[in-house]
Amino acid sequence: MIPFTHWFPQQRVLFGRGMAADLRRALAEVGIARPLIVCSARAQTTRAVQALAESFGAAAARVWGGVQAHAPLHAAIEGAQLARAHRADAIVSFGGGSASDLAKGIALAVAEGSDIESFAMRREQGSITAAHSSAPKLPIVALPTTLSGAEVTPGFSLTRADAYKLIFRDAALAARAIVLDPELIVDAPTDILLGSGMNAIAHCVEALYSKARTPISSLFAEEGLRRLWHGLASRLEGADSADELLIGAYFAGAAIVNARTALHHAICHKLAPMARISHGEANAAVLPHVAAFNLAECPAETARMAAAMELPDASIAAIATRLHELARRAGLRTRLREFGLERDRLQELAARVFAEPGLAFNPRPIDRPEDIEALLAAAW
Ligand SMILES: [Fe+2]
Repeated sequence: MIPFTHWFPQQRVLFGRGMAADLRRALAEVGIARPLIVCSARAQTTRAVQALAESFGAAAARVWGGVQAHAPLHAAIEGAQLARAHRADAIVSFGGGSASDLAKGIALAVAEGSDIESFAMRREQGSITAAHSSAPKLPIVALPTTLSGAEVTPGFSLTRADAYKLIFRDAALAARAIVLDPELIVDAPTDILLGSGMNAIAHCVEALYSKARTPISSLFAEEGLRRLWHGLASRLEGADSADELLIGAYFAGAAIVNARTALHHAICHKLAPMARISHGEANAAVLPHVAAFNLAECPAETARMAAAMELPDASIAAIATRLHELARRAGLRTRLREFGLERDRLQELAARVFAEPGLAFNPRPIDRPEDIEALLAAAW
């Protein structure tokens, strides 16, 4: 067996229906009194957010409804100014991946000031570098309302005004507490739940084949894939599978903490802002093609995926086909052309993907942007 180091975030996970409505009590041991609650403008007016703010007592919690898709860098700076003005002792993220990413960005900007771009990762001559932030960070408490699992990981991205996605990784920014309350996703719109479900499935698939995987991350990924696959199929048949989906999404997030993500996410990170679609939607269209591209490199992991997806046929083609079928059944767009992306932009997209740090973890080596362009053309 290859030597490995597996790192666990310092994190407590709380699970229970109705837990979000009495957040202060649920978090008594963490000792938070003045949080900045970070959510979307739509979520800000919901009973769920009002109840969790009220659980801290009058005016102790400040709610900021500034979360936008793709977590703009400027929003993180704005949120940090509010957190300082409020003298917040924690950031509570209520929402999906964008809320979680902005909470991390806000905590970084509170600690380091408004110029945080230098802490983003860069890929230089095949290796990944970034400035290290040693300043103490406000603790983050996450209440996920989608299946992105973003809150579990120390990684996050913020999007610059020119649509460039800055990728960060800071061990101090993984959520200190994660509150999994299935009631928060029971009534979620099906397209959001399924889009983020495809993202969570992609986390499991990438974690299973990543060159940075450990036997522990593979265990999380396999169990996460099994629960998500079953939970999404049940949801499509009208069942309430919120418990299974939330736990599966947590496992998926826990898998990529160490295994990281590879080619698939490199593509989604560049495609989503370019085509102005959500990360979840990008996942549905890209994953079957990346699976077909990568899986020949890892037959043992392919067999584990097929077993988790309950496929009698463990071939690469069967896995790619079933991923595509699930996205279609979920009503998600599965071809890049359906996003309004012109064919002649694929070369530019491939060049951007080729510069992504995550390619270092891809099981199949990628020597030229043309390899990525060919994959994108098949997905177009
Ligand atoms: Fe993702």
